[in-house]
Amino acid sequence: MTVLRNIAQLATCPPEAAQQDAGLIDNASLVFDDSGILWAGSESQLPEAFIDHASIDCGQRLVIPGLIDCHTHLCFGGWRGDEFEMRLQGCSYQDIAASGGGIRSTVAATREDSAEQLLEKALCALEGILDLGITTVECKSGYGLERATELKQLQVYRRLNDLQPVELISTFLGAHMIPDEYQQNREDYVRLLCNVLIPEISEQNLAQFCDVFVEEGAFSIAEARTILETANQAGLGLKVHADQLSSGGGAQLAASLGAVSAEHLEYADAEGINALAKAGTVAVSLPLASLYLGERYLPAREMLDAGVRVAVATDFNPGSAPSYHLPLAMTLACLNQQMTPQEVIMAATTVAARAISAERRIGSLLPGFSADIAIIDAPSINHWLYHFQANACCGVIKSGNWERQLPGARFR
Ligand code: NIG
Ligand code: FE
Repeated sequence: MTVLRNIAQLATCPPEAAQQDAGLIDNASLVFDDSGILWAGSESQLPEAFIDHASIDCGQRLVIPGLIDCHTHLCFGGWRGDEFEMRLQGCSYQDIAASGGGIRSTVAATREDSAEQLLEKALCALEGILDLGITTVECKSGYGLERATELKQLQVYRRLNDLQPVELISTFLGAHMIPDEYQQNREDYVRLLCNVLIPEISEQNLAQFCDVFVEEGAFSIAEARTILETANQAGLGLKVHADQLSSGGGAQLAASLGAVSAEHLEYADAEGINALAKAGTVAVSLPLASLYLGERYLPAREMLDAGVRVAVATDFNPGSAPSYHLPLAMTLACLNQQMTPQEVIMAATTVAARAISAERRIGSLLPGFSADIAIIDAPSINHWLYHFQANACCGVIKSGNWERQLPGARFR
């Protein structure tokens, strides 16, 4: 058992609370062991049994639930730095895709790389991800667009779960784009997804969710419906990349299918937002993709006001969001989506957990939840998200185990 004392601010992030209320406790203590959180509250009320126990002095720092990045494309071959320059010179993301770059070039590189190479690269990213206080990451396939490479990506995620402490939740995104081989007969690709890949992935338990990129140039609403209904019947949870570059009814589709989340939503309209609210589908905002593409940000205020829960994630991928820095995405959500720091900490913890159907287990620091904890070198959430630093995290605990105790932390 471990007792954390002298916490300046503790964010408990209750799963049922309104998003603007992060359950903050000033001058707090937190008690946990590897079975989970045992006690959380004001230090003045710390039960006697814990007072006498050896404790760790948090030095008036902020303590939050381990962060959850609920939307990444973690496993990919190559990078696309040259496209970055092209975009800065005026080429659009869609122009680059149409001329054979974009997702297509990452598909070629991912097909080429061995599982070993992909694993080493993702492992390296996960080291940096954990340093930031992120203890759970959703990760998508979708850079294979053929049986062998889609399975290779999902198998890499499975192996990574055993090799390092960050918990990975896998999503099958075979419907990321129509691969070149099927441009002339796209129905055959949809059939491959529905008749071969979804059954195989579900049988081998290689993914918990299925996602579809609904967009002009990717999948239509009708195709997405077919794929997602098949995935649902195979027991996978549903996610949708919706309304990223245009308003195409993706949000309504996600809501009508009972998807757990709709992601991107930069162009979601009032009808889509109301549908999400009614269905309880989480909106996942990806501010780094907006930043890098110079695109609009998701209309978070409208969504929160309509009763939609809004998560914040990185979208880490080699094209539209080449960074896994979730705290940067969180600061951008404050600055460009007019979200308050409390709404944003909820967005990257319990609401993100909801976007992967895990809000009863992780993302909150209340008794019974997994002891996934980050110690941040700031006195409060307001201060942390306002004073952006390369990495303010100075301690990370996953499932009750210390994974990071960075220099400068006053542990004793
Ligand atoms: O979420 N929108 C589609 N897919 C990714 C981008 C993938 C890429 O550019 O490689 C996204 O932004
Ligand atoms: Fe994405």
